[in-house]
Amino acid sequence: MMKRRNFISAFGTVALAGSAMPALSQYLIPEGQVRLVFNENPYGPSPKAIAEVQKILPLSAYYPDSPYDYPIRDDLFDAIAADNQLKHENLFISSGSNEGLQAALMAYGRMGSVLTPALTYDAHLGYAEALGVSVSRVPLRSDLQVDLDAMEAMVDESVAVVYLANPNNPTGLPIDADRLRAFCRSVGPKALVIVDEAYNELTDNPNRESMVDLVREGENRLVTRTFSKIFGMAGMRVGYGMARSDIIENTFKHIMAWPNGVGLTAAYHSYIDHDFIKFSRDKVQEGRAMVQKTLADVGLTPVPSQTNFVFVDSGREAMTVRRAMADEGVLINAGYDGYPQYLRISMGKLEDLRTFDRVFKRVMART
Ligand SMILES: Cc1ncc(COP(=O)(O)O)c(C=O)c1O
Repeated sequence: MMKRRNFISAFGTVALAGSAMPALSQYLIPEGQVRLVFNENPYGPSPKAIAEVQKILPLSAYYPDSPYDYPIRDDLFDAIAADNQLKHENLFISSGSNEGLQAALMAYGRMGSVLTPALTYDAHLGYAEALGVSVSRVPLRSDLQVDLDAMEAMVDESVAVVYLANPNNPTGLPIDADRLRAFCRSVGPKALVIVDEAYNELTDNPNRESMVDLVREGENRLVTRTFSKIFGMAGMRVGYGMARSDIIENTFKHIMAWPNGVGLTAAYHSYIDHDFIKFSRDKVQEGRAMVQKTLADVGLTPVPSQTNFVFVDSGREAMTVRRAMADEGVLINAGYDGYPQYLRISMGKLEDLRTFDRVFKRVMART
C-alpha cells in the first residue's frame, strides 16, 4: 500500500493549494476540496468530547500525572473493561492503535517472522521491517477474502506473529467470524495472533465479529481498537489494546508516548456518548449506500463493505482516475500493489459524497 507521506506528496499541489502551512494541511481542507482518503469520521469528534476537552486544554502545560496513575485513563479503562468483561490488566492505551501495533511487533515480531495478508493495513508492518523483522505476505483469495487456509498452513515454529485486520483495509470485508475463531485457536499455540479491529464498531454485528471473547478465555491474542474511526478522533491519536495480562505487559514496555491528556479526555467522553456513536454509524451507512449507488450507476460492482470505505475495481488504471479526481478537488485512494485497477473511497459528509457522485461520473466518462 502507498505510504501516507508519499500519498500526501502525490497530491501535493492540490492538497496544499490555498493553505498557508504544509503542517496544517491535514486539518485545513482547502475550500472546494473533498477528502475521501483516510477513513476518518468527518462528523467527529463527539460534541460532548469537545466540551470536555475545552475544560482540560488550559491544564495542558502539565504532564498528566504519570503513565500509570491517571484518573481519566482509569475512567476509560473502566468503561472498556466493563463492555468487554475484562480487567484493567487486560488493557493498554496507545498513541493511536498504530503505536500499539508497532509496540506489539517490537515485543513479539523479533522472536520469529510475521505473517500477514498481502493486501492489508501495513504502516506498522513497514516499521517492523525497517527494524529487521521479517514479514511474509500471503495473497488474498480471488474473492478478496483473507486466505486463512493458506495462512494456517504456513504457521510453523518460525512464525511469531500473525497480523489480521478485521474487517480488512482496503477491502472493507469482514473475515468470517467462526472461521477466524477456529483459525485463532489452531494457530494460537504457535504464534501471537493480532486482530486489528479498527472498524469493528462499524460492522453489522460488532459483538459477533470481535475476537475479544478469545482474549477473555486467556488465549494467545491481541485485539486492537482505535478512536480514529467511528469516534472521529484521528487527530487526537488514541487507540487501545486488549489481551492477556502478560501480553499487555510485554507490549506496553515498547510504548513510549506519555498518555495524551486531551486525547484521553476526548476518548472517554466519546466512548460513552452513545448518541454520537449511533449518529456516526447511521451517517456512515447512509454515505456508503450513496457511494455504492454512484459506482453501480457507472456499471461498477463495489466490494460489499462493512466499514467507512468502499473498494472497487474501476476497470481501468486506477491511478489515472485518482489523478483526474484530484484535479477536480476530490481526493480518493488508489495504488494498491497487485490491484492496479482498484479505488478506495472513504466516507465524507453527505454533501461531499454528492460532489463525489458528480465528479466521479464525469471522470469515468472520459478516462
Ligand atoms: C486497519 C487499521 N488499523 C489501524 C489504523 C491506524 O489507526 P490509528 O489512527 O488508531 O493509529 C488504521 C488507519 O487507517 C487502519 O485502517
